[in-house]
This record gives sequence, C-alpha cells and structure tokens, in this order.
Amino acid sequence: MTVDLRTTYLGIQLKNPLVVAACSLTDQLDNLRQMADAGAAAIVMHSLFEEQIEHETDEFQRVYQRGADSFAEALTYFPDLDEYRLGPQDYVDHVAQAKKAVGVPIIASLNGVTTGGWVRYAKMLQDAGADALELNVYYIAADMNQSGAEVEQKYIDLAASVKKAIQIPLAVKLGPFFSSPGYMARRLVEAGADGLVLFNRFLQPDFDLEELQVKPHLELSTPAELLLPLRWIAILHGRLQASLALTSGIHRPMDLVKAIVAGADVGMVASVLYREGIGALRTLLDGLQRWLADHEYQSVAEARGALSQAKCPDPTAFERGNYMRALTSFTGQVI
Ligand SMILES: Cc1cc2nc3c(=O)[nH]c(=O)nc-3n(C[C@H](O)[C@H](O)[C@H](O)COP(=O)(O)O)c2cc1C
Repeated sequence: MTVDLRTTYLGIQLKNPLVVAACSLTDQLDNLRQMADAGAAAIVMHSLFEEQIEHETDEFQRVYQRGADSFAEALTYFPDLDEYRLGPQDYVDHVAQAKKAVGVPIIASLNGVTTGGWVRYAKMLQDAGADALELNVYYIAADMNQSGAEVEQKYIDLAASVKKAIQIPLAVKLGPFFSSPGYMARRLVEAGADGLVLFNRFLQPDFDLEELQVKPHLELSTPAELLLPLRWIAILHGRLQASLALTSGIHRPMDLVKAIVAGADVGMVASVLYREGIGALRTLLDGLQRWLADHEYQSVAEARGALSQAKCPDPTAFERGNYMRALTSFTGQVI
C-alpha cells in the first residue's frame, strides 16, 4: 500500500515530513544534493548569527565586551567571530547557490536576540531566494535584573521585527525554558510566526579543569531528548494557527513516527546525519512509510496528532497525573 507522505509546513507543500535541521552539513552544496537525493523534503541552512553581522560596529563590540566580562555563558557561547567559514554576504550567496543546486525548499536561518540593524539580512535572504526564514532566538537570561516578562518581550519584539521585514513565511525556533511555554507559543504566533520549531537545544558550557577555563561544548543529541519536544508538540497541536516542527532527538524511524502522532507537521534532524551519514534520511522515511502502512493509515495527515493531547484517550498523560503515576509505578531495584 502506498501512503501519502505529503505535508504542509509554513504554508509550503512538502513531499514528506522530514526536514534537515540547521547544521554545518548544509555548508557544502554537495551535501545539500545528497540530502535531497536521500529524500529530505526541505533543508534549513545553518544559521547566520547576529554577532557575525554586527561584530564590526562599535556598539556591538561594547555590549560583547561587557557580556563576555560578566557572564560565563557569554564567554563560552561566542566563538572567535573571524573563524566562521561564511561571512554574512557569503552566507546570502550560499543560500542563492543552494536554491539553484537542489529542487527542495531552502529555509534560511538567522540566529540572534536583539532588534538591531542586522535584521535587514532577513530581507536579503528572501531576495536571495529562500523559501522561508527560521529565526533561532538563543538567549541566555543571565541578567538577574531582567524579569521573565522582559525576556519574553525580547522574543516577541524580535519575531515581529523580522516578520515585518519579509513576505516569505517565518518560523521561530526556541528553547523550552519558559514558565508557560504554551502562552509564549501563542504570543509568538500573534506576533507573526507562521510556525514554531520546538525545541532549540541549549548547549551547556563545560569546565576544563587543567586549564581552569570554561570551554564550549557540543554533544550530539540522543533519542532520550525526543520526549521533551514530543510532550509540547502534543499539547500545542491543533491549538495554534501555525505549523509545528519537532527538533531534538529524532534518530530512529519510530522517533519520526512519534513526532507525527504527537502533531508535528515536520520532524527535523541533525545529529543522526553526523552519526550515521546523510543516507539516514532514507531509513527514516522508509520506516515512517512502513509503520503507517502496517497501521493502515492512508496518509501522514491521517496519523498526525493521533496522540496529541486533544485527541489521545488520556489527556492528563501530559500533565501532573502522569508524573505521579510514573513515580508510584516505578519498580526498579536498588543495585
Ligand atoms: C553540528 C551542529 C550544528 C548546528 N548548527 C545550528 C545552527 O547553525 N542553527 C540552529 O538553529 N541550530 C543548529 N543546530 C541545532 C540543530 O538544528 C537541531 O535543532 C538540534 O541539533 C536538535 O536536533 P537533533 O537532535 O536532530 O540533532 C546544530 C546542531 C548540530 C549538531
């Protein structure tokens, strides 16, 4: 039985729900071709960072210096800005080349936190041919004088200012650390987000005890990380006028199936491509197709959200009751 894998993400028709997440593999045109050949329905390019765009201005240097002096997070997060392979204009050119190189939608990615002049790159990426833009708001709220509401407003203001600059669809990628993620999601959609990408992984700095230094640290994800975005996609499905993309922890075909039945319009993958190669996309798609056929679904659309909070037999499974049940039913032995 052939299953209809088509989906719509950010208003764009895709041939299936598997999208390459923003990552450095997208730097190479040859990788993009391989991704498209292996079945990727769309590709998110690695991010162009606000710091890359702004780092030559005096104002940015001042803030950067102050931040780096004050917070360990700031120190470890920003790499040497001159080390980036692609400068801002190179990045725009790369998006234009990517568009010509492959026949699948290309989503450009901007990564930043302030509503400064760097936002003009959103329009430049649109003009370069990007089909949509993903805005990754990666903010470490390390200032003890800033309230949660002020942090949230930063996200909203930034999303609104990027949205104002473009006509192509906008997705906002954010982390899970909000007191009320659902409220934040709703406000972002009201501010103009056409889709939400859940969740950004916040990379934790590590310590080098020999050098007594704080060092940047990136580890590929594990399938265990799927459960956090899975819960929130399931809670939000059907409640927002926006697309939902699940990112973090999709490694096996059943992880992609879970993303769909939670209610995601697409699943995005990065780590599995580093671990297993770009061909892993084909394995994921084959597994999705097989599972849907075995369970007599005619299409991805039919399966989507089957276990969302609105549709699943026990909606409290996503809330506090589930926590109590998990703790009280645990029978693990002390080793
Ligand atoms: C090597 C690497 C580079 C990444 N670069 C970016 C980036 O430039 N922008 C971004 O928004 N996310 C970036 N990510 C995060 C991924 O897009 C993705 O959201 C995250 O890795 C979770 O998905 P996964 O579990 O499939 O890896 C990167 C991830 C990896 C592993």
